[in-house]
Amino acid sequence: MKRTTFLLLTLLAVISLGAEVREVPLLQNVFARQSTSLNGKWNYIVDPFDNGYYDYRLRPMDRGGFGDNRKPSNPQELVEYNFDTSPIMDIPSDWNTKDDQLFFYEGSVWFKRSFTYHQEEGKRAILYFGAVNYLSMVWVNGQKVGEHVGGFTPFNFDVTDVLKEGDNFVVVRVNNQRHQDNVPTLNFDWWNYGGITRDVMLVQVPETYIEDYYVQLAKGDATKIVGWVKLNRPILGGRVTVEIPELKIKQTVTTDAEGRGSFEVKAKPQLWTPEQPKLYQVTVDMGTERLSDEIGFRTIETRGKEILLNGQTVFLRGVSIHEEAPFRQGRAWTTEDAHTLLSWAKELGCNYVRLAHYPHNERMVREAERMGIMVWSEIPVYWTISWENQATYDNAQRQLTDMITRDKNRCAVIIWSIANETPHSDARDKFLSSLSKHARTLDNVRLISMAMEVTSAQNYHNRLNDNMNEFVDVVSFNEYIGWYRDVNDAPKMTWEIPYNKPVIISEFGGGALAGYHGDANQRFTEEFQENVYKNNIVMFEKIEGLAGTSPWILMDFRSPRRQLPGIQDFFNRKGLISSWGEKKKAFYVMQEWYRKKAAE
Ligand code: GCU
Repeated sequence: MKRTTFLLLTLLAVISLGAEVREVPLLQNVFARQSTSLNGKWNYIVDPFDNGYYDYRLRPMDRGGFGDNRKPSNPQELVEYNFDTSPIMDIPSDWNTKDDQLFFYEGSVWFKRSFTYHQEEGKRAILYFGAVNYLSMVWVNGQKVGEHVGGFTPFNFDVTDVLKEGDNFVVVRVNNQRHQDNVPTLNFDWWNYGGITRDVMLVQVPETYIEDYYVQLAKGDATKIVGWVKLNRPILGGRVTVEIPELKIKQTVTTDAEGRGSFEVKAKPQLWTPEQPKLYQVTVDMGTERLSDEIGFRTIETRGKEILLNGQTVFLRGVSIHEEAPFRQGRAWTTEDAHTLLSWAKELGCNYVRLAHYPHNERMVREAERMGIMVWSEIPVYWTISWENQATYDNAQRQLTDMITRDKNRCAVIIWSIANETPHSDARDKFLSSLSKHARTLDNVRLISMAMEVTSAQNYHNRLNDNMNEFVDVVSFNEYIGWYRDVNDAPKMTWEIPYNKPVIISEFGGGALAGYHGDANQRFTEEFQENVYKNNIVMFEKIEGLAGTSPWILMDFRSPRRQLPGIQDFFNRKGLISSWGEKKKAFYVMQEWYRKKAAE
């Protein structure tokens, strides 16, 4: 049987089963589009045995389960769930901090909300989720429209054909159970916040719409803007205009048989810098749809051991950040959360942040861009991933693709990170080198890195020797001298990093409970943490080619691996700031050093 015939028959079979796959490629710049927000009050049902999806013989119920949102049609009918009389949760949010009974919960929770929709002639409706952790299945009006795996990247479904005029409802099954073959895997040092943790929107687009676009400087050339536009359909001859009024640029592209069109144009934009984070109004217009974006232009390269921003050597004065909400805890997702965290980073003296260990929400990246802060963005290929499992690789590659697809127009993003602290093995090397090559096919401009580990340390001599060094542009590694080893010995350390590439220390530091004071040798006092920072800074001054640091971490964050009563209480206390905004003594040590670095 010919391959095309086979594929056609397969597609027909899938459609006939009613489980039509409706996922469509990610919408670029979703916040600029005509949309109805579905944020707000959702009913939820906790379902620890997945009773709403599997029958008593564990057969899956794409129909007949909670996705139906069924109501008894007569007093006699048996229906053992009811969303409308179930509790309500404000979405976006993680359920762990919204319902005390769900603080440690790992399993399925069902969410449902009703909404009104008015069909417009010639329009399609795309249901968009900013992120759902970890696995999600989505029904609209009782029809399953798709599912998604991965807790930190957006996805969207074309639901036009299942919507009704007027009253509609959407049901989402969310499961945050950890599994060895997941990305991340079973074990990680952050809270497994489950839920619909980012925006939900119903986006209205024309039948033929602007699916994606790219507008940035050419690689290494600050006088040329390049870009492309992709329609959702393979339309030959589609005309799309890209305009940057302030630069007097107006480029009209004609799409090819795949619905793609590209352009390049000489330009001399004011380059985006941390000191002057210039953003330009850019519009992408195809007549039936016009999108506005704010886009900055800068070049990022390496030369030997230096990182060059716009051709100038830059030291990345950074700090690591988890997506933990300041003050209220739980998953951060608002612009206000982003502004608070990034303002603290600015106060520390940062021009750069490492957004760990997964892609943060789009608002965080856009706020960093507006505030003049460069970004390291990372996928959660963290610790002991199932390197031999093809589905695991495909999942990691999908998350990498979606991270780059969403943020490729964000000039603040300078580094894509493909992993954190992964154990050496041939399978791991094959997995990561493939991810690195894939990232380069998607973006040959930004830098690629990963957080490695110190390979060996004897007699105060530390060596970095990781096969992945040839697959990264920036060599980054985590070290905890002074905390996990060699207390007070950082100043004695020598380093062997045999790569002619820039070196970033992507993590270092130690823990302290804010307000707990004592001797510098007393663990968890602010004085102990302060001493770790002082000693590490002495060591940093001796590392040749050091191009940046991002101490772990800006703010204390929840972790199920930190059980010390009265000190940790399920918080990782390595923050320079407590989750209530209290700055610890080490904050000022780092701030002082960054002031000195900025003046160099
Ligand atoms: C590791 C890891 C972090 C973790 C930190 C710690 O380096 O990358 O995710 O939180 O160490 O032990 O606190």
